[in-house]
Amino acid sequence: MIGVFDSGLGGLTVLRALVERFPSASFTYLGDHKNVPYGNRSSAEIVDLTRAATDALFTRGARLVLLGCNTATAVAARQLQQAWLPGTPWRAKGFNVLGIVAPTVEAATQTPWSVTTPQYPQKNLTDTIAVFGTTRTVMAGVYPEEIRKRTPKVTVVQQICSELAGAIEAEASENELDRLVAEGIAGVMAQTSGMPPHRAILGCTHFPLVEHLFRRHLPPATRILSQPEIVADSLEDYLHRHPRYVDGNTGTLELLTTAVDAAVISKRARVFWPDVPAFQSA
Ligand code: DGL
Repeated sequence: MIGVFDSGLGGLTVLRALVERFPSASFTYLGDHKNVPYGNRSSAEIVDLTRAATDALFTRGARLVLLGCNTATAVAARQLQQAWLPGTPWRAKGFNVLGIVAPTVEAATQTPWSVTTPQYPQKNLTDTIAVFGTTRTVMAGVYPEEIRKRTPKVTVVQQICSELAGAIEAEASENELDRLVAEGIAGVMAQTSGMPPHRAILGCTHFPLVEHLFRRHLPPATRILSQPEIVADSLEDYLHRHPRYVDGNTGTLELLTTAVDAAVISKRARVFWPDVPAFQSA
């Protein structure tokens, strides 16, 4: 079974793409609704919460955990992969943790993650890429750092959308969400002297839920990179190389939440994914 973790409902955008792509794989999703949103928390808190969630998913039988959350990935993935996992019994069993920044950077730079220097010829050498994310994702700086390593002439503009994920979780009105998206895009334009970015990374798994609003405010020439599809492509490649993570899977799907009232979460989740199965308490 593959565990997919997010601070709340945002990771469902990734999970949905994975379930569609791998119908015979088994997934357990864990949403930390008790602590959502993560985006404005301290790095130490995010590392602790992400470690606890990953450990809980391994304990429930996941052999591979995908952090379906940019904030958790940007702040905690490296720490979990390099400092925590090697000291746990999970490592000896061959379990692993993956994040979603690496596949997104690969797609944005058209360069494999393992290649950390500019390659020649480079496509889109002088593009501007806008990254929309939570406060903590933007402050972690991993997107510009990793994109520039591979494509140094690309301009990366980051924009904090500090209230957007929380507003999506809280089912804010379409008008309010539209206002927050427009504000974020205006923030990017202010950094580019009004030039629209060539590409936009919705660097928060909640944001595909309002992708239509980003589309509305960005010109047609700006390509929005769809993280759920990018992550599904990347996982397909990974599972091809490591089929043991889905050996014996029977296509089950389980949704867990740390919220006290799982029924409330199930109801909210249906707004984003109409036939999503019910959440259970973790
Ligand atoms: N969905 C998450 C992300 O991709 C985090 C949102 C939040 O909890 O602030 O960044």
